[in-house]
Amino acid sequence: MNTALKHWKEAATVILVAGMKRSPAASVPHKSAFNYKVLLLKRSGKSGFMPNAHVFPGGLAEASDFSPEWLDLFEPFRTLPNFGVGLVKQPPETRPPMFATDRLKLGSPVPGDVAFRICAVRETFEEAGVLLVVPRKDAAEHRSRSVPAALSELCDRSEMARWRSLVIQNSSNFIHMCRELQCLPNIWAMHEWGNWLTPIGLHGKQRRYDTAFYLCCLKDIPDTVQDEKEIVHFEWSTPSEVLRSFRDREVWIAPPQFYDLGRMSNFHLLSDLHDFAKSRSVEGCEQWLPVHLAATDCHVSLLPGDSMYPETPDYTGKTKSSLPSEKSLEELQKESPNLHRIVIHDLYTTSAYVNITPKYRHLPPLTSAALNSQSNHDSKL
Ligand SMILES: *[C@@H]1O[C@H](CO)[C@@H](O)[C@H](O)[C@H]1NC(C)=O
Repeated sequence: MNTALKHWKEAATVILVAGMKRSPAASVPHKSAFNYKVLLLKRSGKSGFMPNAHVFPGGLAEASDFSPEWLDLFEPFRTLPNFGVGLVKQPPETRPPMFATDRLKLGSPVPGDVAFRICAVRETFEEAGVLLVVPRKDAAEHRSRSVPAALSELCDRSEMARWRSLVIQNSSNFIHMCRELQCLPNIWAMHEWGNWLTPIGLHGKQRRYDTAFYLCCLKDIPDTVQDEKEIVHFEWSTPSEVLRSFRDREVWIAPPQFYDLGRMSNFHLLSDLHDFAKSRSVEGCEQWLPVHLAATDCHVSLLPGDSMYPETPDYTGKTKSSLPSEKSLEELQKESPNLHRIVIHDLYTTSAYVNITPKYRHLPPLTSAALNSQSNHDSKL
């Protein structure tokens, strides 16, 4: 864990998608229909961070995610680069700090690229009861599997529930559990997808996170259970269903979720999304700190690459939380040759404008118009 960080805490999140079970009687799906769903959890109204928001499972990295005890468990893999996850092609100097940080210097033999994946697996177990592990004895075989399954046959339900409450109590118990059940967190199924830094709060002080986003594809939708404390509700929906509920003001999602659901929408088939996420993840990713701009008629959340994105963004939040502008959205759009921004008209009315070529072989979010017509290159969602 990086205790030197003053302004934010390190966290990991999984965009967990799973194939839909089809009944044999089901009619042939429409060509533009998704054949997978994504897991979203509704945070409790009492939660300290984004109450009532629908979020992907995830949470804070703990010291136990970096524990040397993982070395023994991962024994056959520990000598491979990143325990067999592999190395990204991205040059170290452009790598997001959370991945570039030398963890050995911070006293942990577990690389960040491994520890944040362990964190993502642990948090998914804590929050949703979905255990993304593989049996230790044939981990090598599982590692190369194209689309993995979630494991529930390691122990019975009551045993699983017991472990889950122990892990929620103390994250170190996740190591004990893996040792006892002879399993390993499936770090190899976690494909690096992005890195979002919580922007400076528009409404005073809020918790800020430096969050690694992974994408994990499962063959089938697994059982999910709820954690009453932080999460009150969970839902498996297609990306277009979530975006429609958001537009219809039935659910609220934060801008990163909005943006990433739009990016996933480029793929209607689970196998295509999986192949893309897996091959793209070796390219690496950029750290994104959204910078708020208050226009006269809306809020604009600027992302790196946008013409208006500051050359030296204020990471610490010492200055004002939002850059003021005397201009309207229309004027701001006209003045910017390069668009990479999320425009927030109100809490539920959001659009992404992207005309830059995304770095690291990523894709821009698909527009809602394109979701129907598949023809629009200018990504307005
Ligand atoms: C969690 O468990 C570890 C190892 O058993 C122990 O060292 C640590 O103090 C525990 N933490 C809490 C908050 O109980």
